[in-house]
Amino acid sequence: MNDPKEPKDPLLLDHEADGIKELDNNLPRWWVWLFVLCVIHSIGYMFFYHVFHPEKTQASEYALDAAAGEKLKHAVQEKFEASLASLEPSADEVVLAKGHQVYDLNCAPCHRQDGGGLVGPNLCDDYWIHGPKFSDNLKVIVNGVPVKGMLAWKESLMPEQIHAVASYIYTLRGSKPPNPKLPENEQQPEKPNEFE
Ligand code: HEC
Repeated sequence: MNDPKEPKDPLLLDHEADGIKELDNNLPRWWVWLFVLCVIHSIGYMFFYHVFHPEKTQASEYALDAAAGEKLKHAVQEKFEASLASLEPSADEVVLAKGHQVYDLNCAPCHRQDGGGLVGPNLCDDYWIHGPKFSDNLKVIVNGVPVKGMLAWKESLMPEQIHAVASYIYTLRGSKPPNPKLPENEQQPEKPNEFE
């Protein structure tokens, strides 16, 4: 409280900190009105965006777009997987060059640059683990063999990249690279329908 013997500014409050005292001035009118307007606006904003949300928020718009993208991706993947059995290796140079690129980047670390095999099996011989047909290769590349360390490439490669890389490794068949990895299965040359 103000000491009556020592009259002070009536606006001066009783507390102080490090010699700094507070004057209880009225806030300027413009400031108060701005504050009131902000409060009114925030109520409107809350009901508009968080209660009735006739407009999408940034987050919900992102979630919708992401869900649509996922749906599209799955539709394309399913269509590709359904068509695997009937796909033929491409002989198109552009496709093979693309496949070569995909191979060097993703597959060579395990199957060796020349396809001779390292962690993964030799891709140049006839001793296939999962079958000799082009579509057998495609299925392994798409779904992988997770327990053996072969990834399911549908997670990270697009169908056309998978087709391109499968077409590329098809060209490695019979190439006899030096020091290949030893066969990991019986010999099974590619003869249509023999292993159906
Ligand atoms: C992390 C190592 C690794 C990478 C990277 C890898 N593979 Fe494999 N791959 C394997 C292993 C291990 C197997 C053998 C699976 C088994 O034993 O069932 C295999 C099997 C295969 C087979 C089946 C071979 C057979 O004998 O039937 C094909 C085809 C194949 N991989 C292609 C690819 C292609 C194409 C890529 C790149 C997109 C790739 N791999 C990347 C490890 C890998």
